[in-house]
Amino acid sequence: MKIAVFGTGYVGLVTAVGLAELGHHVVGADKVAEKIDKIAKGEVPIYEPGLNELLESNLKKGRLAFSSDLDKTILDSDVIFVCVGTPQGDDGSADMSQIEEVSRMIAENLNSYKLVVEKSTVPIKTSSWIKRTITLYKKTDMAFDIASNPEFLREGSAVSDFLNPDRIIIGVETERAKEILVKIYEKAKDRLVITNIDTAELIKHASNSFLAMKISYINLMANLCEKTDANIEQVAQGMGLDPRIGGLFLKAGLGFGGSCFPKDLKALIKIGEDLGVNMNLLKETDRVNADRVKVFLEKIKKALWILKDKKIAVLGLAFKPETDDIREAPSIKVIRELLNEGANLRLYDPQARENMKELFPEYLARIVYCDSPYQAAAGVNALLIITEWKEFLDLDLKKIKEVMANPIIIDGRNIYDAERVKKLGFEYYSVGRK
Ligand code: UDX
Repeated sequence: MKIAVFGTGYVGLVTAVGLAELGHHVVGADKVAEKIDKIAKGEVPIYEPGLNELLESNLKKGRLAFSSDLDKTILDSDVIFVCVGTPQGDDGSADMSQIEEVSRMIAENLNSYKLVVEKSTVPIKTSSWIKRTITLYKKTDMAFDIASNPEFLREGSAVSDFLNPDRIIIGVETERAKEILVKIYEKAKDRLVITNIDTAELIKHASNSFLAMKISYINLMANLCEKTDANIEQVAQGMGLDPRIGGLFLKAGLGFGGSCFPKDLKALIKIGEDLGVNMNLLKETDRVNADRVKVFLEKIKKALWILKDKKIAVLGLAFKPETDDIREAPSIKVIRELLNEGANLRLYDPQARENMKELFPEYLARIVYCDSPYQAAAGVNALLIITEWKEFLDLDLKKIKEVMANPIIIDGRNIYDAERVKKLGFEYYSVGRK
């Protein structure tokens, strides 16, 4: 079976490498030739633990290749995974133009039976649109099938998520398509969930929005904790011990960012509203999340009063640890607000500094990009924790205190034990606890 993976972004690249690792012959395709040339040499354009090694080993074994010749890749393939981007449009809905483009290309090159599997996160009914597009533009009578196989990988653990998934959702409408996908995922056949296509598409959206809701829920409880003597860590622990609730995704903090949750939540709201369903539950989830930065800024102001000309260290720029991705990162909103208030910033992140440098070009005079947390802390009036990188947990806080102008930490992710930090002489503000 010859497999093609269209799109070499996060999902596409991990899918191509992962399928090759499962033993299949895979060609990763992208219209950006420069990107393809680099990946074909083993250069991974994103920071993702473990991806480099697997890319190199599968390239060496000859199971994996990359191409920017899209027509040829389609002509040579039996199964095509569509992993191109579906960025958020102005009205919150996903922009599907890249999916349409690939569908038309497949139609024009339909020289043999092909199974087209959509893997990008897409609105319900996208597969039907792919089917209609291929049917409209194909030039032969050749048969094809469509399927939905949504991806659940998390940045930072994408490779292991792909190779050890909790479940593999397969949405199909023919026996032939089902058999092909069951064969591709033979090694994980105990975790297959086979449904119709609409159901598979909705499972992906429903999962992401549910997790987003869980995070907003715990953040709402953190707001309550801050007005009372309750402690959010203990509230989360107490709730999470109930197996019906579960302890994961109950970490209060600056809210969710990244390329999936914010976009998918808005997209599901739009899908529901277009279908005439009241989506207020998810709208509130989005609103609570949008308020997280406001709540955090209030804490900074409570500690520093006037922000103009204050020096502030920001530790953590990526939307979560173990990635260089800053898409929808809370750090961006925090930094923007602090700059608007006239503060001077010293920024540090183990991986995301280069990406952040491209933003805020007009503020270069007031931003210093630092090479270590200690350098960032030098002479500052307060230090902010925005992302819970392990490196920050292990900081020598005595050393940090020595270099700071004022020993004030405002921790947006509750990474430190409050008692310990206060004992070291810091003024310490965190989320949903004293
Ligand atoms: C998510 C889904 O987990 C994954 O299944 C899907 O395929 C893509 O979207 P990802 O965006 O990589 O993955 O990150 P995830 O680990 O889910 O975290 C998302 C955001 O929620 C991050 O900003 C994180 O900081 C935040 N978060 C997560 C919390 O604020 N609290 C939590 O308890 C968990």
